[in-house]
Amino acid sequence: MVAVAMYRAAAMVMLLALMSFSACQAQLSPTFYAETCPDALSTIRTSIRSAIARERRMAASLIRLHFHDCFVQGCDTSILLEDSPSITSERFVPQNNNSVRGFEVIDQAKSAVENVCPGVVSCADILAVAARDASEYVGGPLWTVNLGRRDSTTASPSLATRDLPRFTDGLQRLIDLFESKGLNERDMVALSGSHTIGQARCATFRGRIYGNDSDIDAGFAATRRRNCPATNGDGNLAPLDLVTPNSFDNNYFRNLLQRKGLLQSDQVLFSGGSSDSIVNEYSRNPSTFSSDFASAMVKMGDIEPLTGSAGIIRRICSRVN
Ligand code: HEM
Ligand SMILES: *[C@@H]1O[C@H](CO)[C@@H](O)[C@H](O)[C@H]1NC(C)=O
Ligand SMILES: *[C@@H]1O[C@H](CO)[C@@H](O)[C@H](O)[C@H]1NC(C)=O
Repeated sequence: MVAVAMYRAAAMVMLLALMSFSACQAQLSPTFYAETCPDALSTIRTSIRSAIARERRMAASLIRLHFHDCFVQGCDTSILLEDSPSITSERFVPQNNNSVRGFEVIDQAKSAVENVCPGVVSCADILAVAARDASEYVGGPLWTVNLGRRDSTTASPSLATRDLPRFTDGLQRLIDLFESKGLNERDMVALSGSHTIGQARCATFRGRIYGNDSDIDAGFAATRRRNCPATNGDGNLAPLDLVTPNSFDNNYFRNLLQRKGLLQSDQVLFSGGSSDSIVNEYSRNPSTFSSDFASAMVKMGDIEPLTGSAGIIRRICSRVN
């Protein structure tokens, strides 16, 4: 009896050890490239900073590109893959078509990194670092990026269509969608705060400014109608944050209190529901918003990474090797 119990205990210890070993294997780490490519982070940073210096909006576009990557089969840069005989790209699903951008910036950063350490650094890690560097450049929060993601060999337009939020989504739908990725309501509201920078196309806010949405400031709607006709002009741009579209601050939340959210999915965060209190808090307290945003970005970057021997290190981000 004693022997059996001891055998069981020993087996249990070994099982636990194995489990924690494989958990370690799957874990991302900020020092992943410390030995294999010590200059990776500085190389990416230089490349990203010069792209944003050329076009400031690129900061917004890169943060969004990382988000649209992570929500579709995890942060594996499936979004970067172009159409090919073996791949149907995610770039043309409704939430991405004529909308996500920054591909060439990631390609440039990748080729700069390939010059210093060929075949070592994944596109997925480059995109995660790019999003952090972009936030820093426009005065947003800073965080330490976990590393060790690998790149997918597949893309999934059907998962992209299913899992990326839409500007017509209601609050509960947004909460559920983020919950399904391990992000709670507070994370969702904090991350939506990245709409403090960047632009949206007329096609995404026309319904809100011409409809009988009582949840919109009348003067704001009139201003936005000037450059967004009732028909045509789908691609005309307006800033998501009317006050300070080029700097990362908490004005997005202050706008919502005044019913000046540009997208319907922005205003639903402050429309009498459960997230009102969070919006209120972030509008009053920029430092809480800043630290919550940083932690939520880390959480988002940790969604279902490919690690260990799963996936590949792509040589060119837009195609499978
Ligand atoms: C909560 C659900 C969300 C919805 C429904 C949504 C929807 C949108 C839409 C419709 C646009 C305008 C796209 C266009 O007209 O081309 C946009 C832009 C943007 N989104 Fe979101 N978004 C959401 C959450 C997020 C999150 C979580 C992030 C980042 C963490 C993010 C970052 C951005 C940025 C930075 C832009 C501006 C991009 C640019 O100027 O290129 N969004 N979003
Ligand atoms: C994407 O946008 C282009 C240009 O507006 C359009 O021609 C095409 O049909 C769209 N693709 C899909 C899959 O909707
Ligand atoms: C808005 O309301 C007016 C008056 O009630 C109505 O005539 C119009 O069709 C409505 N417009 C939309 C887009 O619902």
